[in-house]
Formats: sequence, structure tokens, C-alpha cells
Amino acid sequence: MFNAAEFVESSLKEIQETVGKTRVISACSGGVDSTVTTFLVHKAVGSSLIAVFIDDGLRREGEPEFVMRILKELGIQAKYVDAKKEFFEVFKGKTDAEEKRKAFRDKFYKTLGKAAKEEKIGFIAQGTIKADVIETTTGIKSQHNVLSQIGINPEKYGYKILEPLRELFKPDVRKVGRELGLSAEIYERMPFPGPALSLRVLGEVTPEKVAIVRKATEIVESETMGLGTFQNFAVLHNDKATGIKNGARVYGNIITVRIVESDNAVTATAKQVPYKKLKKISERITGEIPSVVRCLYDITDKPPSTIEFE
Ligand code: XMP
Repeated sequence: MFNAAEFVESSLKEIQETVGKTRVISACSGGVDSTVTTFLVHKAVGSSLIAVFIDDGLRREGEPEFVMRILKELGIQAKYVDAKKEFFEVFKGKTDAEEKRKAFRDKFYKTLGKAAKEEKIGFIAQGTIKADVIETTTGIKSQHNVLSQIGINPEKYGYKILEPLRELFKPDVRKVGRELGLSAEIYERMPFPGPALSLRVLGEVTPEKVAIVRKATEIVESETMGLGTFQNFAVLHNDKATGIKNGARVYGNIITVRIVESDNAVTATAKQVPYKKLKKISERITGEIPSVVRCLYDITDKPPSTIEFE
């Protein structure tokens, strides 16, 4: 049985011994893993840590403001980096999922590396967890934060990596967050992939497409808050379908809604959401997003599907 108090105690000691007086940077996206990591390292090394929020233009509505507020409330020194334009630039012409992940990863580490250089950093803290390591080593996909497995050697750039959660699965990460005194608003957050909405825009990622899926995400999340499911989100398809808007036949966007139950993301079950709820989501998505003419619900489990579409 996992003991969060013992884990925190030994982790703090280990981080202090490893880091010494060296400065540490932690990229905090607002997700459970990176926020717990950031707070754990902050507890261990205090003002030697600087957190950065890299605004890649791919986050949920209101997320940059939310993360900066949380970091401030936790007393963590934090820096906001606006990299929206640069991220959209690297997605140009890329349609393959793994190519998109690689483009995201390269830009992410370049941006983080630049911030690290400015702050004279020796360590990069990352919220890598066990599922990331397993999925990368077994070839299911390349999680952007499993550096050694994807052929990036941070030492080459003068940094060492700190991954205090790499032996834990998500439920234990949540326990650590609670043990550290984080609010439930943070440690109970739904998992959100590092490359964020870039994985939920199928095909090429553009600011216009991200805006559509961001709005659909907001609708899905607000309508499904009480379900207690593992992940609830919207996906924008790359192809279009015929529909009717304002009395005219149009060729518009397709959104799929995915709501799954899972313990650790290794397997998942599509949630049997009441039909009335699905209908409301569909009406809101097609009613509030002008370009969307069709809304689908994904009833496939993992396996054979994955949770994300890409
Ligand atoms: P899949 O789609 O493989 O996802 O069933 C399992 C869990 O991992 C998340 N996910 C990612 N997280 N980078 C991340 O940080 C990624 O590239 C990535 N792809 C999927 C997914 O949201 C789910 O929680």
C-alpha cells in the first residue's frame, strides 16, 4: 500500500541531496503531474526553484491565468513565457500524430532551455510518471517528457533532470498532492496531455482549429463536471461533413466527444452517459460553434482504442 507521507518525506530529502544549492526550473502546465512536481521541489529547495508557464496557445480556456494564480497562491516564484506564435509556426504542414508530438517536444524544450539559460539553472524538474515511461518504452507513443527514451540527453545542454514522480501512477500522484496540502481543485484535476489541444485537432494544428476545439472542450467539461469520470473532452476532425446552418446546406466541422472511466490510463472504458446529457452537449456544441455541423460520441474502450485520438 502506497504511503504518501513516507514518499514525501523521502522525496524531499532526496531532492535536497541531489540538488544542493543548484537552481532548478520546473515547467508547470497546471496539470496534476507537473503541479505536484513543482510544489514538491519547491518544498524541498524553496527559492532555488523557479516555475515557468509556457503559453503554447494550446491550453484550455482561461488556463494561463489559472496556473499563474495557483503558483502565486502557493508562493512559488513563477515566470510566464508567451510562445504561442512560435508553437503554431512549428505545426505548419504537420499532420502525422507522432510528427506533431515531436514538433511540440522540440519547441517545448527549446523554450524551456532558453528560460533555463536566462535563470542560470542546473536542474530541470519534470512531472514524468510511470505510465509515461511505460507507454514510451513499449512504443505506444512518445511521451514528450521521457527524455532519455526519445534520444534527448539533457546533460548535453548542461542540465540534469529531476523526476521525483517517475515511479508513481496517477492515483498515487494525487495522494502526494493531497499530502502536500494542495487543494482538491488541483490534485483532482482531470489528466490533460502535455501537447494539449494539438492532439485534439486531428491533422494540421492552426489557431483557428484550436479555437474551435477549445470552445468544444469548455462545453464538454462544463456539462460533464459531475460525472466523476477520468477524462472528458472534445476532438476536432480533419474531415468535414454536410449539415444545415441557418437554413442553408453547408459543409462543416465534426466534433467527437470522448468520456472515459479509467484508474491509470492504461485501460479505459467509454462512459455510458445518459442520452439526455449527450443530446444537450451536441446541441450546445453545434449551436454555439458556428462551423460545427455534427457531433459524435465515441463508445470505444481502450484497448482497442487509445484515450486520445492521436
Ligand atoms: P492514450 O491516448 O495513449 O493516453 O490512451 C493515455 C493517457 O496519456 C495522455 N496522453 C499524453 N500525455 N503527452 C502527455 O503528456 C502525450 O503525448 C500524450 N498522449 C496521451 C492521455 O490524455 C491519457 O491520459
